[in-house]
Amino acid sequence: MNSSWVNHAISEINADYQRSADTHLIRLSLPAFAGIPIYLKDESTHPTGSLKHRLARSLFLYGLCNGWIKEGTPIIEASSGSTAVSEAYFARLLGLPFIAVMPGCTAKRKVEQIAFYGGRCHFVESACEIYEASETLAKELNGHYMDQFTYAERATDWRGNNNIADRIFRQMASEPYTVPDYIVMSAGTGGTSATIGRYLRYQGYATQLVVVDPQNSVFFDYWQCRDATLKSGIGSKIEGIGRPRVEPSFIPAVVDDMMRVPDAASVATMQWLETMLGRKVGASTGTNVWGALRLAAQMRDEGRKGAIVTLICDSGERYLETYYNPQWVEQNIGDLTPWQAEIKRLCA
Ligand SMILES: Cc1ncc(COP(=O)(O)O)c(C=O)c1O
Repeated sequence: MNSSWVNHAISEINADYQRSADTHLIRLSLPAFAGIPIYLKDESTHPTGSLKHRLARSLFLYGLCNGWIKEGTPIIEASSGSTAVSEAYFARLLGLPFIAVMPGCTAKRKVEQIAFYGGRCHFVESACEIYEASETLAKELNGHYMDQFTYAERATDWRGNNNIADRIFRQMASEPYTVPDYIVMSAGTGGTSATIGRYLRYQGYATQLVVVDPQNSVFFDYWQCRDATLKSGIGSKIEGIGRPRVEPSFIPAVVDDMMRVPDAASVATMQWLETMLGRKVGASTGTNVWGALRLAAQMRDEGRKGAIVTLICDSGERYLETYYNPQWVEQNIGDLTPWQAEIKRLCA
């Protein structure tokens, strides 16, 4: 039976949801792609600045309803930062201690936001170490390891209930093409793509789910060969997406196609998108939009018309010292010039 604290915690989260608005679906009409509108579901406008706001809400509800989170339970999470910011927000809402386990290179802005919500950061050297360090901390503190990389795919109700896919289709209802040809998404936990992929099948939509994967990530190879033991020695340089191991939340069978995206292409697209939107987005959004542009060019070449939907995962304000710093880009990502030329060619 639920304790009164758990009942109170669930109603706090539901009331917070009730006070929240949906995120915008922005239409990008590029002259080069007549009849092929690209839509951007702008997840940067959540109170905690990223698509992970939805996941954090779902993970807290899942933990509460499973009896894993009780009054005073310390919450521990392994994260590349965005999920930790959102979970710190919900932990504060419920008055729970929160510790984020993250690679030391995580954007400073995210670290500051976690601290702003009263959370604590525990740094490890590389992305490969976050899982074990989280388990150890949870044991030591008698806390709950949220484990987004395992539970993201099941904490969200993929059938509907206002999930991101459901919201996208509702917002497309008055558009020239109400059912997009493609939804393009990158994978961190793989939870968002699992939700979208399952929803498409459940609703019987013909939309293809295309997952874009950065360098140094094992998801692309895993999708092709289904070897769940694949490992990468290097962490992804596109914060939030691409993993060094096959995450349990990444469900390959719901993905129709995958595309490998060079890191320099992601960053070049991110910078190009700023000129289209008049504001900065994060690098994983660059990865998503690169994939959308490639598909739009393919549709144009084949004489097809139709819509493509992808996501703005978070805002670029978090990455002023990295992806928006030319020196950092030169040292960590490399030369963007060939990719800038390629975007120009695609959009000509
Ligand atoms: C900035 C950013 N973009 C994209 C993603 C990928 O989302 P998902 O974990 O649902 O695969 C994440 C996940 O951490 C993220 O932080």
